[in-house]
Amino acid sequence: MNKIDKEEYFSFIDSNNEITNCEKKVLKYLTTQLGKIYVDRKSDKQFYTYVNNANKSQNPTQLSKMIILLQKFIGYKQANKLTQELKYNFATDKTILKRMDELRSKDKKLSRPNKNDVYNLCSSWKYIIENISLYYLNNLTESNSDVSKIKYLDIGCGNGNKTTMFSKAIGLNLDNVYGTDIKQWGPYDAELHGSHDFNFKYLKEDGTLDFPDNHFDLISCVLMLHHVESIDLLLGEIRRVLKPNGKILIIEHDCHDDYDKMLLELLHGCFGYLEDKNDEISYSSYHNWMEWNYIFNRNKLHFNHFNYIFVNIDHNTRFDNIYYAFYTKK
Ligand SMILES: C[S@@+](CC[C@H](N)C(=O)[O-])C[C@H]1O[C@@H](n2cnc3c(N)ncnc32)[C@H](O)[C@@H]1O
Repeated sequence: MNKIDKEEYFSFIDSNNEITNCEKKVLKYLTTQLGKIYVDRKSDKQFYTYVNNANKSQNPTQLSKMIILLQKFIGYKQANKLTQELKYNFATDKTILKRMDELRSKDKKLSRPNKNDVYNLCSSWKYIIENISLYYLNNLTESNSDVSKIKYLDIGCGNGNKTTMFSKAIGLNLDNVYGTDIKQWGPYDAELHGSHDFNFKYLKEDGTLDFPDNHFDLISCVLMLHHVESIDLLLGEIRRVLKPNGKILIIEHDCHDDYDKMLLELLHGCFGYLEDKNDEISYSSYHNWMEWNYIFNRNKLHFNHFNYIFVNIDHNTRFDNIYYAFYTKK
């Protein structure tokens, strides 16, 4: 199914009483601008298209975001230099990725930018997860106020680090915690999934969840929904295995325009090529928070709460615009 039916989406925006008229206008306008400068990963010219257009339209925010993305992999000096060059000189994405790889193999320190004291005291993900968990705990209903009984499922749990961090931050009993994932995802293998400190089960081959109806109090989808092709199937399954009044937590990228979309695709491309040594293009479909609300709403999962994610007490946000939201099965 087409993820966004424009007419339906626009009337969903119009019927929303919790956003301003300005937000409504801008959200609708941005959808009409999609595809104006966008080129896909197969074009092999996303880096250049992004930087060259950001430069022409004198958009310092987009240029800084590119520096931040590249800096993650090759350090600030090289990232700045590469971004300046890309303003005027065309180079294919492959050439740039190869160059980044060479720089990293020459200088191992480049891939690990220095963190300041605040981040050493509390890593970004610890900070993020404690904040979201606090919101969850402060909004528990009487029926599940005994956290040791809460049943939690993390879908697309990957290496499981965040599943464990969430479980500990909420105070869950790890016997009641499950992770699930597909088999095909590059860096995570059966050995890793066998070593989690919570229970693990693969998704079934047909994309359904291998769990009974009305079973979980909390389900999370952390940075994974944008990889799911059959989104209505998965959300239907989430609805099935959640108890009535159960909550879904998502962490997603808030993707509004062609720049956001290309930046996210490039980020995944960099991780694939430089970290996982895999330059296959995996499926992705990025949306903004209102579009995700619309997709959840059409699957009868009701929006509760939304917030941008700060990575520490300094209120810095991330260049890849991550946010979290909670939904409820009524
Ligand atoms: C970027 S990783 C995030 C992993 C983990 N949630 C984290 O934040 O560290 C994306 C995850 O989504 C999973 N995934 C991709 N497509 C999926 C699907 N159709 N159903 C369930 N999980 C999927 C991948 O296997 C991978 O574990």
